[in-house]
Amino acid sequence: MEFDLVIRKRRMVRAYKKVKVEEYKIKKILENAYRAPSAGNLQPQEFIIVRDERVKRELAEAALNQEFIAEAPIVIVVCSDSRRNVWRYGKRGRDFYCIIDGSFSSLLILLSCVNEGLGACFVGAFYDDEVARVLNLPKEVRPIGIIPIGYPDEKPERIPKRPLEDMIHYDRF
Ligand SMILES: Cc1cc2nc3c(=O)[nH]c(=O)nc-3n(C[C@H](O)[C@H](O)[C@H](O)COP(=O)(O)O)c2cc1C
Repeated sequence: MEFDLVIRKRRMVRAYKKVKVEEYKIKKILENAYRAPSAGNLQPQEFIIVRDERVKRELAEAALNQEFIAEAPIVIVVCSDSRRNVWRYGKRGRDFYCIIDGSFSSLLILLSCVNEGLGACFVGAFYDDEVARVLNLPKEVRPIGIIPIGYPDEKPERIPKRPLEDMIHYDRF
């Protein structure tokens, strides 16, 4: 699909058909996520692929009972392992770069899903410690986003956005 169209078509999709997502599509999505930039190219991103029904349900609970997470055929949890950058960047690496690096990968996942005819939603509202417990994450590995993925079973409305001109500033805020 054409690049601009992929960006324009992307909406958060929160209802999924009960249809398996093909392995080759998951592989393509992950290969794209892998190409995300990272501070100092230290690549703290970790991708946890969840298919187990019980784990999906526990993730939904850890995310304030956002049930659609459990209903997706597959969930990718993007995490960042601060051990990969804290040695070079200290607090900045742990508290800032880790989040940005994981976010860049997450956006590539969302856009790749559109390109593959799939729907996905970035879920950031969750209890970190609960997600860490469910996924058995080491304490240095921070969950960045829970991304349920599946064939869309809804066509999300266009959400009103701020006018672009209001968001652009020249030289100073
Ligand atoms: C940091 C962040 C956290 C978000 N957390 C959630 C969430 O927990 N649950 C949810 O349904 N959507 C979540 N969203 C999706 C937003 O609600 C959505 O992007 C926004 O309403 C605009 O809709 P659109 O992406 O379809 O244009 C999150 C998005 C971002 C960027």
